[in-house]
Amino acid sequence: MKFRENISRIAFSEEQIAARVDELAARISKDYAHQQLYLIVILKGAMVFVADLIRRIKDVDLNVDFMVVSSYGGGTRSTGKVRIVKDLQKNIEGRHALIIEDIVDTGLTMNYLRKILYDREPRSLATCSLLSKPSCRKIEVPIEYLGFEIPDEFVVGYGLDYDQGYRQLPFIGVLKPEVYGGQA
Ligand code: IMP
Repeated sequence: MKFRENISRIAFSEEQIAARVDELAARISKDYAHQQLYLIVILKGAMVFVADLIRRIKDVDLNVDFMVVSSYGGGTRSTGKVRIVKDLQKNIEGRHALIIEDIVDTGLTMNYLRKILYDREPRSLATCSLLSKPSCRKIEVPIEYLGFEIPDEFVVGYGLDYDQGYRQLPFIGVLKPEVYGGQA
């Protein structure tokens, strides 16, 4: 795979990401201090982000669980028809739950997730997303803990993929449109 050649520019460097993850972890540590918190990590994109985030969260009793969702069709853009491929191991009823996502684009995936998770009656439910593309929203979803807003560009690295590749890049880079055929 032609790796770096396919990246037009670095959107966020390792250092910028680390500084922002520090800030998010500090806020989460404060808001949930001395409480139990159930992290719902959406695989695979959020794996690198959450690995860094949880090591910076202090004085919170964390449980980490994973969900795998896949959206039908859509190429680089989700369709909103989401299927649960792997569900949580435990019931979140009565717990503080925090969804950890890599990026909110149209908002359709997050809207679906919040709906089905609310139905399970957690004590509270919030969202933490590393990235957000507000100009691409088809439905508004709250993001209580947000890393960075980005424009309508397709980004990879730090866990985010294109066609399952690029996840291991330590920075977040903008993929050249010709790599994915133009439309982000
Ligand atoms: P949404 O339902 O449109 O908000 O899509 C969210 C999902 O689309 C994310 O969890 C990613 O898997 C994927 N996605 C959207 N934009 C990007 C991007 O720029 N890079 C990598 N994945 C993306």
